[in-house]
Amino acid sequence: MSCAPGEPCEEGGRRRRALIVLGLMGAIFLALSAASFLPSRGQALPATVSYAGFDAVQGKRVFQSYNCMGCHTIVGNGAYLGPDLTGLYGKVGPAWLEAFLPSAGSWPTKGAVSLQLRDERIAGDAGVAAIDAYLEKYPAAAERITRRGAHSTLMPNLPLSRTEVRQLIAFLKYTSAMNTEGWPPRPQVDGLTFPQAAPLPVSRPTIPVAAQDPGAAAASAPVSAAARGAQLAQDAGCTACHASGRERLVGPGWGGLYGSEVELTDGSKVRVDDAYLTESIVDPDAKIVQGFAPHVMPSYAGTLDADQVAAIVAYIQSLGGEHP
Ligand code: HEC
Ligand code: HEC
Repeated sequence: MSCAPGEPCEEGGRRRRALIVLGLMGAIFLALSAASFLPSRGQALPATVSYAGFDAVQGKRVFQSYNCMGCHTIVGNGAYLGPDLTGLYGKVGPAWLEAFLPSAGSWPTKGAVSLQLRDERIAGDAGVAAIDAYLEKYPAAAERITRRGAHSTLMPNLPLSRTEVRQLIAFLKYTSAMNTEGWPPRPQVDGLTFPQAAPLPVSRPTIPVAAQDPGAAAASAPVSAAARGAQLAQDAGCTACHASGRERLVGPGWGGLYGSEVELTDGSKVRVDDAYLTESIVDPDAKIVQGFAPHVMPSYAGTLDADQVAAIVAYIQSLGGEHP
């Protein structure tokens, strides 16, 4: 449309104004696009978060390869069979996760978590070295230990190596450091009463100590050593990985182990006696049982004294097997 001759013509001015507005919009668009490539506003970046020498990106790959998201939600994605893991690292800390992940079928005990703190890198990351200070700093870990420690969980044991465990923790540390603007939301239950939400009663699973041969003379001393060993095995967290029967949990079952012949990864065979069991406890990587991975079982040298190790050995012996 053109201007009639003799009338005031505004078309040129309108066009100029439209171009200015368009130019301004274009400039804002370009500026915002450029800003989106800048390191985001104080937000944690996966490449900058590491744990024990592993970075969060490696951990995310492990998380995906085990399909943890098939059961867990993380940063708004995933399923609801297991709990949301987004902020968990900040609540339970690295030592609890180090104790939980390799033997996820059982909740860690205080002994299992305190063993992890003996590793300087874990203690360094946690910011505290003593177990009581740790539980004070991470009350969610304390709560899990007192309410559920040594009980079985609904999560399966996964064949995670020690390296994969640390990579996963790096990833969980990253999601915990993210600013998720309050996600996941906390359910608002003020004013409602949930009788089912009362704390679980604290009870301990009883570990069967195999009955001693009734004819055995001087039975009382070995019985008490074996019973003490059973309690120790539970408190130290062994039972998260070892069954009292023959079945495989994370490690081999202890039932019928004593006196049997065990095949090792190097193809050699060893007869199970006190010395072999003692070495397996204080230096677990010295001999690796065929079909199992090294570095999964922690060393108990320095946490269990010789007496305690002997009691556990007596307990394992009480679980059957021939006597050499
Ligand atoms: C088959 C489903 C399933 C898979 C796969 C699975 N989990 Fe779980 N996980 C669970 C369930 C269920 C629980 C809760 C256990 C309970 O309450 O007894 C759980 C609990 C946990 C907890 C403790 C949470 C808390 O708040 O105490 C962590 C940590 C965890 N899982 C991490 C992982 C990681 C990492 C992976 C992948 C390597 C994984 N899970 C794979 C089902 C699963
Ligand atoms: C995180 C899991 C885990 C924990 C906790 C654990 N173990 Fe193990 N254990 C394993 C694995 C895996 C193996 C097999 C690989 C090897 O030989 O080290 C094993 C092997 C053993 C063996 C040799 C078994 C055989 O068939 O020859 C003994 C004995 C043993 N553990 C005792 C203990 C005792 C005692 C404790 C507690 C003080 C304990 N373990 C805690 C995972 C664990």
